[in-house]
Amino acid sequence: MAIAIRIEEIRHEVTLLAEAAPTTNVLMQGVCKLLHDRMLKYNWVGFYMLEPGARPPVLVLDTFVGAMTPHTRIPLNQGICGAAASSGKTVVVDDVSKDPRYLACSLETKSEIVVPVFVKGHVAGELDIDSHFPAAFGAEDKELVQFCAEVVGKKLEQSK
Ligand code: SME
Repeated sequence: MAIAIRIEEIRHEVTLLAEAAPTTNVLMQGVCKLLHDRMLKYNWVGFYMLEPGARPPVLVLDTFVGAMTPHTRIPLNQGICGAAASSGKTVVVDDVSKDPRYLACSLETKSEIVVPVFVKGHVAGELDIDSHFPAAFGAEDKELVQFCAEVVGKKLEQSK
């Protein structure tokens, strides 16, 4: 199936999930499972959320699909995860072995994308995806993952 059609279908399913999910947590679990199961190069999919009130701020592992990671708490000055949360920008790394910021989660990981989740204009967390394939995240993947992060951000806004 052409990647564009697959991505359009998944966007539609994420929209349906958001409408049906009784809580943000259920939506986040659904997004992780959907992306992990249907996007063949997405080998680890999970959310990190900023711990409320923590000073200095720290990202805490939330719902995920994939192998357990040693990085359950990540300060904002560490990792690709910290870079995305502190800058408020999507970070795509085509070859993690060449990025000094990278915190290894699995020896198999070759590339990674991290997209911030915004609530009322502020970073509340992020959607992190690792791939066993180099340069797995192109422009269409970036759009899809950003869409998923936006949907979760909107759901969080509604529940506040
Ligand atoms: N690689 C991330 C750490 C999280 S694991 O990928 C799940 C980083 O460099 O921040």
